[in-house]
Order: sequence, then C-alpha cells, then structure tokens
Amino acid sequence: MSVAVTRRRLLAGIAGAAGLAGTAGTAAWASGLFSTDPTLVTSDSALVADAEAARSRVGAATVTATLTPRPVTLDLGGTTVQTWGYAENASGPLIRARAGDLIRAEVVNQLPVATSVHWHGIALRNDMDGVPGLTQQPIAPGGRHTYEFTAPDPGTYFYHPHSGVQLDRALYGVLVVDDPAEPGRYDTEWIVVLDDWVDGTGRTPDQILSSLQSMGGAGHMGGMDMGGMDMGGMDMGGMETMNSPLLGGAGDVAYPHYLINGRVPTAPAVLTAKPRQRVRIRIVNAASDTAFRIALGGHRLTVTHTDGFPVTPVTTDALLLGMGERADVTVELNDGVFPLVAAAEGKTGQALAIVRTGTGVPPTATGRPAELDRQVLSTGTLDATDAVRLADRDPDRTHRLTLGGAMMPYRWTINGTTFDESEPLLVRQGERVRLEFVNRTTMFHPMHLHGHTFAVAGTGVRKDTVIVLPNQTVTVDLDADNPGQWMTHCHNIYHAETGMMANLAYQA
Ligand code: C2O
Ligand code: CU
Repeated sequence: MSVAVTRRRLLAGIAGAAGLAGTAGTAAWASGLFSTDPTLVTSDSALVADAEAARSRVGAATVTATLTPRPVTLDLGGTTVQTWGYAENASGPLIRARAGDLIRAEVVNQLPVATSVHWHGIALRNDMDGVPGLTQQPIAPGGRHTYEFTAPDPGTYFYHPHSGVQLDRALYGVLVVDDPAEPGRYDTEWIVVLDDWVDGTGRTPDQILSSLQSMGGAGHMGGMDMGGMDMGGMDMGGMETMNSPLLGGAGDVAYPHYLINGRVPTAPAVLTAKPRQRVRIRIVNAASDTAFRIALGGHRLTVTHTDGFPVTPVTTDALLLGMGERADVTVELNDGVFPLVAAAEGKTGQALAIVRTGTGVPPTATGRPAELDRQVLSTGTLDATDAVRLADRDPDRTHRLTLGGAMMPYRWTINGTTFDESEPLLVRQGERVRLEFVNRTTMFHPMHLHGHTFAVAGTGVRKDTVIVLPNQTVTVDLDADNPGQWMTHCHNIYHAETGMMANLAYQA
C-alpha cells in the first residue's frame, strides 16, 4: 500500500520536474565484469567447451537463423509505432529445433546501439549466453556475432537482448525445442506471446528508465525538453495503484497497450481450430514490467509445462505468469468464438486474442471472461513430473539473495548492493546449490537464473524464473553442472537494469 502511495506521489511529482533525463541507461547489464579472474571459470574456459562437448550429439541437425535487430515500423492493429525489432511484427522469427540440435544464429546488428542475444531458459554453453561484459563483448552497431550452441532440453523458451532495456521494445522471439519423444496428445499448437507496450507512443523505454531514476532523485535531471513528450501512458493523476491481491506491488509502469502476438485488443490476433480439437498453447510472457492473468472464456486450461519442463497436469480457470515465465497449456476447444484474455495483473488494461472454432459474436476488447476471477494458478505451485524431478540431495552450499530496493531512489538490490558493486556468488561444479530468494520489498520479483533449471522447494517444479512475492522467501535447488558465469536477476527489466542482478560464478 505505501509503495503505491509513494509511487503515485512520485508520478504526480514528475509533472513539475524541470526535465527528464535523456536516453542513456545505466547499462548495468553491460557493466564491466568481463572477468579474467583466474579463480573463476570464465566463459572462455576449457571447462565450458568440455560441457558443450558432453552435451552435443553425434549427427545432430543444425538449425540456422539470422536475427537482424533494426529500427522497424510496426502496426499493432491501427496503432503504428516506430521501434526496434527483429522483424516487421512484434515477435522475432520463431526458431524451432529438436532437443540435441545445434542452433546457429547469426546476429546482424543494424541498431544504432550495441546489443546482444540471450537464450532465456536454455542450459547452453556459457560463452553463448549473451551477457555483454560477462560472457561476450557487446555486438557493436554495424557488427555481427554468431551464436552456436546445443539446445539440450525440450520446451518453450525465448530470446531477447541482454543490453539495457531493449527487451521493452520488440526485441524478442520464441525458441521452441521439440521433444523427439513427445507423446503429442494434441491436434494443433498455438504460440501466444504477451507483452506490455510503450515504445513509439511518446516515450521510449530508455526515457522511462531515466524518468524512474530521476523521480527518485538518483538520475540526472538536466538537459531534456519535455515538450512533445506524451506522458499519457503513465497515468499522472494517480488513478492507478498497480497493486494486486495476488502479487502485492505489481509493477512500476502503466503501459498504454498490452499485446498478444503483437496486436492491441481492438484489432486482435485470431487463432483458429476445429471444435473438439485439443490445442497446445505455448504462452510466453515477454513483458518488461507486467505479470499477466490469462484465461480463455468458456474453457479451463490444463497446464502441462512451465519454463519448458513438464509438470503433473493441473486444470485451472486462470493462470498467472510473471515476466520471463512460460507455460504450456492444453485445451479441448468448444464450438464458437471465445476471448483469450491476458489481463495486466494489478494494472488497468488487458491483451486479447480471439479463438475461433465456429460462428459467434466476437468478444469485445474490454470484455472480461468470468474465468479470470475464479481459480488462478501460479506456476510455482505446480509439481515436477518424476522424469524431471531433481534427485534428493542435501545442498553443499546455500546462497541467500535478499531482494531489496525502493522507488525513491529508484534502485533495486540483491544483498544490499546493486550489480555493479556486487560480489560473485561462488559455486563449484558438481555441487548441489541452494538459493534462497528473500523478498524484503513490497513488490513481487520474478527471479531468473541463466543456464540452469532449478527445482522449487516444496513441489520440486523445475523452473528458470519464479515469482517471489512481497515479504516471502522462495527456496530453489540446482545442480551446478554447467560451468561458467551466470546471471541471476529479477526479470522486471527496470529492476534488473537498476541493479537487481548477481553473478552465480563457478570457481575454477
Ligand atoms: Cu530473460 Cu537474464 O534474462
Ligand atoms: Cu523485481
């Protein structure tokens, strides 16, 4: 509650501020930890190459892709925006491989700034993880970089830059790794990508970052003319509290648009199938500051996977997904026209797609299916299947990550420090490692770990991104079997960029 009041005052206060900061972020994601420390397993270590050799399969296929991050003009459905993307639509090219395949993606950077590509959720070789300053040099404007790695585990993943707040533009795409042994108990498949959208509507994500920092007095205030900057998306009147009964503090940015597959609700994407078909829906939350509550009107959702890995199936009315989380659900479709809604949790607005298997009246842009307010499932409560359950083992080492921070100054921390001042969290290959995410803030944080899929204590559900609620602790265990230097951070891009990141570092 106090956070919301504070935030509202901050937002009210900024209207009178002398100016907003320019486009420079703090670039914490790219700050210089590019380590040559001989006591650590750095990304160029032979141990990293050895781990990849053990992962790669003889005779594996190679899947190639070219990503060209560039300025693009997108039609979101009557709303046209200038932004940066990998393609002429909001989501970049779908990359699809089979488990064990080699993925080779060439990145041709046509942006005016440096970038990188991170392969979110994949247990890949550390030197291909896409973190400038830690695992590679940034890809300069005009530069090229080739990523090449084995994708060991089937599932629904995505890719995005690990550079500044570029994720909050159209710089993301889905990576599906198919299971050669997939039972395939579904007739068709849809990919549903959720996003919160602001770029090209009067403010860039970099301007939002700067204004968040300026509001807290931590940023620079000089130099930029506010004339012509449309603050409409940011609800200056304090009407929106951005709190949710499920999440507590639910975000820092009120976006003007929420998208499913790059479309605003007034011109939604249409997903078609036949009545009584079973559809597998792969849902990716690619938003930067928004959790979504997802439901399909007239149906229940059977959740079969989260963050790529299988769970004991659970049927629910609605599903909550934090930023960076994924879920696969199956649905047996009824006959008609139905709204697939992703409501911006704790915020005003929603994303919509239309599911059509027959005739019927199309749903309205603002209609709210009753399922949204019935049973809402959070992925962290699911159960791992036996096939992917981590073996019982006592941890060899425990790291506590105390999550802190505030809106004023706008600064988010792990163990009291921002990333640029942090010490690496040391582990050794072969250890069972426990991480305790202790949230001492009044906001939720979707905590993500690179290069590993941990097991959440209690149910054992395998995940790479887990929601940590205000004043709660989530404990996860992992096997340290992928040597290198790995980011763990909040997947709220504004929290990560202002400091809520740490390095889980393998010792040599
Ligand atoms: Cu999807 Cu380090 O991020
Ligand atoms: Cu956070």
